[in-house]
This record gives sequence, structure tokens and C-alpha cells, in this order.
Amino acid sequence: MSNQITRRQAIALTTVAAGAVLAAPRLASARSRAIGLWREAGLDLQQAGEFTLPPLPYANNALEPHIDAETMEIHHDRHHKAYIDNANKALAGTQYADMTSDRILGLLDETPDDKKTAIRNNVGGHVNHSMFWLLMAPTGKGGGGEPTGALADAIKQAFGSYGDKGGFKDQFAEVATKRFGSGWAWLIAGDGGKLKIVSTANQDSPLMAEKFAGPGAAGTPILGLDVWEHAYYLKYRNKRADYITAFWNVVNWTRAAQLHTGTMGAHEIGK
Ligand SMILES: [Fe+2]
Repeated sequence: MSNQITRRQAIALTTVAAGAVLAAPRLASARSRAIGLWREAGLDLQQAGEFTLPPLPYANNALEPHIDAETMEIHHDRHHKAYIDNANKALAGTQYADMTSDRILGLLDETPDDKKTAIRNNVGGHVNHSMFWLLMAPTGKGGGGEPTGALADAIKQAFGSYGDKGGFKDQFAEVATKRFGSGWAWLIAGDGGKLKIVSTANQDSPLMAEKFAGPGAAGTPILGLDVWEHAYYLKYRNKRADYITAFWNVVNWTRAAQLHTGTMGAHEIGK
């Protein structure tokens, strides 16, 4: 009897949850699905409470010669850790302390002014870097090559080609090169699942509202590239363009394709 009630309750809860997903706006639904995929990939974007530094999914030297071990070590162990420490400091004792990272980013507009900048920069930095590590892999061992399947088709449709002159790679590199100062270049699925190349300043994220991400830059991240000098200066000095060229050798297209497929599935559900 008690088992039956439990099962009935479980079904009711599932129905409510499914209804909530179906009723959600399309973009929110796509983001939820993407966050679920990030979680499956080992990144708990929904982690609540104190944030902790996720381990790199490969050795510090695994991306060489394209990204050197010392850069990876400093970038992950010090820069990413600093974002986490500062995020935890800013969140401590606030109503946001027990919220998941994606929810915190979604509530920025109503965050008190004395906390807003610290939360925007440091929770943003934590989420962006967590994604970045997972979107790369050693060359030939999950990294490099070209997108395949539905993602390849969608890239061709949106940008003309993947690697031909003026195609996706050139357009992405141009956006990444032109980001003035520090920030990120992204391939995102925007409203309706449309693929776009965008850039965010500092540690702003496409997961934030457009007011913070920038005009047209809100959406679900499919691929991201850190163009802060701390990501490349030791090896490439002032030659950001060379770092961007090297990045293609370590892109984890399998993971990007998973995110794209999940996002598209969510958009289908939301129709
Ligand atoms: Fe960085």
C-alpha cells in the first residue's frame, strides 16, 4: 500500500515536472537541457552551496603543444580558483548562497548593487571556465578535427561552411580577435536554436540575460574560447590570433555536438 502511494506520488511529481518544462519559455527550456548535459559531462552547474574547483579532465600538459602545461596550471589552479574563492566570499550570508550557479546568473538583475559586480564577475568566471575545460581535449584523443553530423550541417547552414575562407572558423576567429580587452568568444544557440557567434566582455556569460551578456549574446553555449591574456600570454605573448588558430587543434567537437543536439531537442519540445 505504502509502495503504491509512493509510486502514485512519484508519477504525480513527474507529471508536474514535465508540465513545468513544457510551460517554460523555449530558451529557458533549452538552457535547462543544456545544463543537464553539462551535468552529465561531469560539470555540476547546478551545484548549490560553496563552489569547489572541478578537476581538469586531462593532465596540465595534455593539450601541448597548442596550450602549454604552465598556462593550464596557472589558469586552472590559480585563476579559476580565485573566481571560486571570490564567488563564495560574495555569496556568503546572502539569499544566493544556496542557489545553483545558473540560477544565480539568471537573477543578476535583481541582485543588490553592493554584491552585483562581484557575483557577475566571479560566478560568471567559475561557470565560463568550468565549461571551457570540458570543451577541449588532447589532439587526436577527442580534440581537433571538424564537427560532424547535425552540428556540422547547422554550422554550414548558419555560416556558409566550416573551414572555407570566410566560413565559421574565420568568423569565430574574427569575433575572438576583435574582443577588446578581456572576454570570451562563443558559438551559441540563441532564440529558436539559431546558431550565432558572439562575444562577451570580462566574465559575462551567454547564460546571463542579454542586459549583462550583451545585445544578442544570450543563449546556450555550444563552444567557448577564453581570450583573456592569462589564457595565452606565456606562450603566445601578444599574438592572440596564433592562440586562436591553435585552439582548433584541441576543440572537443563531440561535446559541442552533444550540447547542440540537446539544445535542439529542447527547442523541439518547447514548440
Ligand atoms: Fe580564463
